[in-house]
Amino acid sequence: MEVLGIDIGGTGIKGAPVNIKTGELTAERFRIPTPEDATPQSIAQVVLEIVEHFNWKGMIGCTVPARVEHGLVRTATNIHALWIDTPVEKLLSEKTGCKVTVINDADAAGIASIKFGAGMGSNGLVFFITVGTGIGSAMFYNQVLIPGTELGHLRLKGDAAELYASDRTRVKEGLSWKRWAARFQKYLDRIEFLFAPDTIIIGGGVSRASKVELYSKYLSTRANLQFATLENEAGIIGAACFAGEN
Ligand code: BGC
Repeated sequence: MEVLGIDIGGTGIKGAPVNIKTGELTAERFRIPTPEDATPQSIAQVVLEIVEHFNWKGMIGCTVPARVEHGLVRTATNIHALWIDTPVEKLLSEKTGCKVTVINDADAAGIASIKFGAGMGSNGLVFFITVGTGIGSAMFYNQVLIPGTELGHLRLKGDAAELYASDRTRVKEGLSWKRWAARFQKYLDRIEFLFAPDTIIIGGGVSRASKVELYSKYLSTRANLQFATLENEAGIIGAACFAGEN
């Protein structure tokens, strides 16, 4: 079965049809830059353009970088404040004429990792932590998603951890990989103080192999530490699978 997966990010909105049995994209990924204002209406317009690009008529799974509860967006830390309480599934379904299921971006990328990536077959308590503009999290127990965790907002140094240890902060503050890793280690320590994960998978932009080799030597966890392998496609694949199964 094929589902169109769409991943709404801070810089780009990307889509591709996905075979949800194998996790493979069945056509080349199509990307449109995220509009400057990034309001619900302008993003919905871009989603429509992606749907039209593939001439898609079927089911759609879509991510947003915010908490989603029963089709409503509940938070807006890195997106426009107008998103709060937006009935995003209704908005996108009406705009595209297709059934759209919406899921948090980290939950989606985590699903892809557990099904087809670095977390494939991982049992016990698994945390997928995606590090980019913000820090997002997905929690699994025996491969079942416990949705809606927001571990990027754990308090660290008096504020949300993502302000201290995200990739955006690394770039903004001009931190070396070693200095950023020292911050990220504090974040991982905090997670392991509060929870007892068996496996932690690091995803997002920092999981690219060429980057991992610059900082992984500075990290240590009690949990088995893994780095995601699907990177750019994880959100698309996970959103499609979630939509196909819900
Ligand atoms: C948001 C999360 C999101 C993460 C990664 C955080 O600021 O609160 O919902 O998963 O950024 O985009």
